[in-house]
Amino acid sequence: MSENDMLQALLDLNQKDEPELSFDDIKHLLLDLFVAGTDTTSGTVEWAMAELMRNPDKMLKAKNELRNVMRHTKHIQESDITKLPYLQAVVKETFRIHPTVPFLVPHKANEDTEINGQVVPKNAQILVNVWAIGRDSSIWSNPDSFMPERFLEKEIDFRGQHFELIPFGGGRRICVGLPLAYRMVHLMLASLINDFDWKLEEGLNFEELDVTEKFGLSLQKAIPLKAIPIKL
Ligand code: HEM
Repeated sequence: MSENDMLQALLDLNQKDEPELSFDDIKHLLLDLFVAGTDTTSGTVEWAMAELMRNPDKMLKAKNELRNVMRHTKHIQESDITKLPYLQAVVKETFRIHPTVPFLVPHKANEDTEINGQVVPKNAQILVNVWAIGRDSSIWSNPDSFMPERFLEKEIDFRGQHFELIPFGGGRRICVGLPLAYRMVHLMLASLINDFDWKLEEGLNFEELDVTEKFGLSLQKAIPLKAIPIKL
């Protein structure tokens, strides 16, 4: 089997004598991946940039960390992500405060289940309010403030093991794109922060940047971020 890329691997499966995947299967699979992976990834980067631009001191911290790590290289690599704890904290804080899939994807109970004294009947549709978990003041101090620093003190990640932060869901239906999203969000954000300085539209102060949320299947910025790059 050729190992060129994913599309080639899928087409190879289709060319076998008894194909495991039809062309229609492949088209539906790719559509699923594009739909599930596009807005979520770009929305997260947009939210992170908006919060950093509203908090110039945090933008500066992220920039300084990147400058230190990238003193000898021009472009960030995947392997650099682990050397950037503040950038990772920025991404976690963005997932906490603006999870782009605020109710996860609807689930259904397989059987009657009791959780904390509440019965969830078989076949009930379950929406997990990840947005509310992220804003819960019994879990997070100052939940409405953007404070990446909180994650420098805690060993919490977003891979489904820590239920206070589950932007990708958890268990068997956890987002299959998580490893790709992890890389893309960190790399895109790092490049935007490291390669440019940023300003807002004429006449707008950083504190006035609007962070109103628009709820839907995905959580978008009600007013898209308009940021103007200044080449360094
Ligand atoms: C920041 C980026 C992303 C976030 C926040 C995110 C979040 C989620 C969430 C919350 C779910 C539902 C989990 C559940 O049912 O409990 C999900 C499912 C899914 N995601 Fe992602 N996702 C992201 C990026 C991606 C990418 C890049 C891809 C693929 C290229 C992808 C593909 C999928 C697919 C196919 C499902 C359905 C999995 C299933 O139901 O078995 N996602 N994602």
